[in-house]
This record gives sequence, structure tokens and C-alpha cells, in this order.
Amino acid sequence: MTEADLYTLYKGVYVPSYLHPPQSLKYYEEFTFRPDDIVIVTYPKSGTTWMQEIVPLIMSGGNPASVETLHNWDRVPWLEEHRACILNLERRPSPRIFATHFQYNMMPASYFKVKPKVIYVMRNPKDVFTSSFHYYGTTSFLVKPGPQSEFLHKFLNGKVMFGSWFDHVKGWLNAEDSECIMYISYEEMIMDLKDSVTRIALFLEKPLEAEVIEKIAERCLFKNMKQNKMSNYSAVPRDYMDQTKSEFLRKGIAGDWKNQLTVAEADYFDAVYKDKMKDVKYKFAWD
Ligand code: A3P
Repeated sequence: MTEADLYTLYKGVYVPSYLHPPQSLKYYEEFTFRPDDIVIVTYPKSGTTWMQEIVPLIMSGGNPASVETLHNWDRVPWLEEHRACILNLERRPSPRIFATHFQYNMMPASYFKVKPKVIYVMRNPKDVFTSSFHYYGTTSFLVKPGPQSEFLHKFLNGKVMFGSWFDHVKGWLNAEDSECIMYISYEEMIMDLKDSVTRIALFLEKPLEAEVIEKIAERCLFKNMKQNKMSNYSAVPRDYMDQTKSEFLRKGIAGDWKNQLTVAEADYFDAVYKDKMKDVKYKFAWD
């Protein structure tokens, strides 16, 4: 099936129609934030699920009840997804935790008025590409990636879900309300998860004892999270996501692009990256 069959063009970017029917996009447009909401923002395949584990554990002071009993998509729901409309989010007690893949300029009016806390997770785009290439092949609601060289062009031109990685990252880095935003990368979390959890907890004004931080970081290690049925997508029927083709929690490493891209593809990627990111001052962990 093609883009026309599976995607809706929303504010200039593709969103999968199955997950984001018009009523859920409208729901998000009209959503009212609270100042103490926490919003995890990511370009897909950058560490969303990881953060959906870490943040609830921090906010509960290390109590694992929510990560053991609630699926990640109910625990930290995507505001633009069909389930958001039925979860009674308006009645959830504060502080509520949400996720979104929206670009900065796609955020609804209430976001700019209320300015809730945002954790923006970034990942080396070559690894985002690699993770996406495997993931797109497993789902029935995304256009199949096709040959790698074809998918590479689509990815670099933003003809994939939630649009261009470059626009996404640049939009959020240039956000006017950046004092409410914590920027963190997948690579920093791989390098030092304990330090990352500590910094996230401080940003969320929830300082924790060292041993609680230690426990959270241990729980959120790839090998442990992979066993959590509430976070590893094993509850999703195979018709929608066939994990026999590639697991959702697939490798969980930084630099897997080296096993995926040819030298020519990596060089091409770097050239596009250099051009598109030439005005960006932010020092990325992967550069
Ligand atoms: P890979 O496909 O490279 O393994 P998202 O949740 O945004 O869709 O991102 C999915 C990516 O994050 C996958 O990358 C997945 O394995 C990785 N991931 C999820 N939990 C992780 C963890 N605890 N540690 C490291 N990587 C993790």
C-alpha cells in the first residue's frame, strides 16, 4: 500500500491514518494542558518507549506499579493517537505524563499558552534511520520501507511518518520557550543512564536518593526493559506489528548504522546532514 492509502497529510507531514484519525488530531488541537504536565517529545525511534519507562518511575519515586501494570501507551499516552480520546485524560490527576511525535510548529494553541515541561529526546539520525527501516517493515499501518536506498531518500526528504528528522530537531531546538525544555539524547542515556536519570529527575523537580536512581536505571536497562510485557509491545497483535520480523526493542545500541548503511550511503547521509544542519549551534552527543 502507498502513502495515499496509509497516511494523512497533517500540517504538511505524513501521519499514519490508522493511529491518527481526524477525530484524534482534532482532540489534540483542542487539548488543554496544565502547567505541571510533562510532555515527552520525540521523533519516532529516538527513545520514546525508554522515556515512557523512565519518567513514570521518577515521578513515582521509584515505585514500579505503573510500569508493571499499564502498557506504555496508556501510562504515557500519545496525545495525537486514537486512544487519547478514550482515556479520560482530563480527569487524570496531576502531574500527567504524555508523549507526542509532533513537530514544534504542530503543537496546539494551549501548549504555547501553558508551556508545560517538555523532555525532548534526540538520537543520531543514522540510527533513527536504521531503527525505522526495521520497524516500518513490521507494521501494517506504515508504508513498507522497500529497498534500503529508496527508504534512505524518503527518510532524508521527510516522506516518512512525522516528516523530516531535520525539521523536527531544528524546530524543537529553536523553540521560543526553551527554558521549559530539557534536551537529552539517546546517546547520553546509553553512555550514562544513572547520570541521565539524575538530570531528568532534577529537571522534573523530583530529586531522588542515589539508591532510587540506581534502581530506576537498572530497571530501564535495555535487557531488563525488553522483558517488561507492558513496554515491549508483545501485547500488540501480529497483524499490526509483526515482531517475528524485527523486535520493537530491537538492539538498543548507539551506532548500529555502521552495520546498516553502505559507505556510499553513509557519505551521502553525512553530506545532507551537513547541509541541513549548517546553522545549528547545538553540540550533539553523536557529532
Ligand atoms: P533500535 O531499533 O535501534 O533497537 P521509540 O521508542 O522512540 O520508537 O524508539 C525505539 C528504539 O529505542 C529502538 O531502537 C529500541 O530498541 C530503543 N530502546 C527502547 N528502550 C531502550 C532501552 N532501555 N535502552 C536502549 N534502547 C532502547
